[in-house]
Amino acid sequence: MDDDNRIVMLLCMGSACHRLGVAQILPRLQELIIEFKIEDMVHLKGHFCLNNCSEGVVIKVGDKMVERVLPDNVDQVFFEHILPYILDENQSGDLTRGAT
Ligand code: FES
Repeated sequence: MDDDNRIVMLLCMGSACHRLGVAQILPRLQELIIEFKIEDMVHLKGHFCLNNCSEGVVIKVGDKMVERVLPDNVDQVFFEHILPYILDENQSGDLTRGAT
């Protein structure tokens, strides 16, 4: 979690991931975050090599690693792996906060 309780999503900007198209993936992720109105749940940050170069492009959202993200599959990865994780984690946080 970030200081403002948002889930941190790290997008690898290392050289291997750069070669695989992270420069195209970044703006699409930014669009999807806005489109699904989850800006208050997730903080997207660039990061140096996430030490998993052979599986790039790599995204780490919370404690979940998402691998083999490409410009052609970023929407699918977002819908299948990233969005459900963020919504689950956010709901868990709400339940915890509601219980106190
Ligand atoms: S450059 Fe992306 S995991 Fe190493």
